[in-house]
Amino acid sequence: MRTIAIISQKGGAGKTTLAVHLAAAAAGDRVALLIDTDPQATASRWSEWRGGKDPEVIDCGAPSLLATKLSRARELGAELAIIDTPPHADAMARQAAKLADLILVPCRPKAFDLAAIEATAELVKTSQTPAFVVLMAGPPNAPLIYREVAEIIRGTFGLAIAPAVLPERAAFHHSTAKGETAGQLDPQGKAAKEIAALWRWTCEQLDMPTRAHGRTPAAGL
Ligand SMILES: Nc1ncnc2c1ncn2[C@@H]1O[C@H](COP(=O)(O)OP(=O)(O)OP(=O)(O)O)[C@@H](O)[C@H]1O
Ligand SMILES: [Mg+2]
Repeated sequence: MRTIAIISQKGGAGKTTLAVHLAAAAAGDRVALLIDTDPQATASRWSEWRGGKDPEVIDCGAPSLLATKLSRARELGAELAIIDTPPHADAMARQAAKLADLILVPCRPKAFDLAAIEATAELVKTSQTPAFVVLMAGPPNAPLIYREVAEIIRGTFGLAIAPAVLPERAAFHHSTAKGETAGQLDPQGKAAKEIAALWRWTCEQLDMPTRAHGRTPAAGL
């Protein structure tokens, strides 16, 4: 089983949006589940709104429980676990970073968000787990902004950047509010294509081939 931790100490960076969309993309392809470690329980609520359809979302209230939840998921046949973490929660984020094979750090390409990435960058580097920033909710067509932001993230904070971005798209907002994904709302839309590209790139990072068909994750967690 591979594990991805979605981490940003900044509130509203796009962690849950990224987590649910990657988990849903994964569930079309393999046995995937989402572990919601945020007391706000946004991902769990999204799962309720979608009537429990894949991906399965389970909660984890304490950092000390996370390793056991992951082992149990592995035993029950999960192939991928995605951990959504809370903002301003050092202990949970550190534990998720330590246990993951890959860390994704969502970040808006905006000045205040970039300044706030410092604490997350320190946490991520301490874990020694491979990590990439995923730029979220920026302007769809602004190559200069993305170049400038990439320089700051690499140069000032020493973090790598995912080549796939999820720009500002209304589909992300409208879909999650209904327990759906942007791809479900508009399968031919730009957001759907961007998520598919991000999922393919994520599979490459995890050395995990994509498949045509998935299965339902084992119940009982
Ligand atoms: N690419 C995007 N396009 C449009 N809206 C987006 C995008 N990414 C995130 N958002 C919106 O930004 C808001 C915050 O996103 P989200 O809840 O995923 O952040 P978060 O990091 O999980 O927040 P928290 O720290 O509170 O857990 C949501 O309203 C979401 O719909
Ligand atoms: Mg969240």
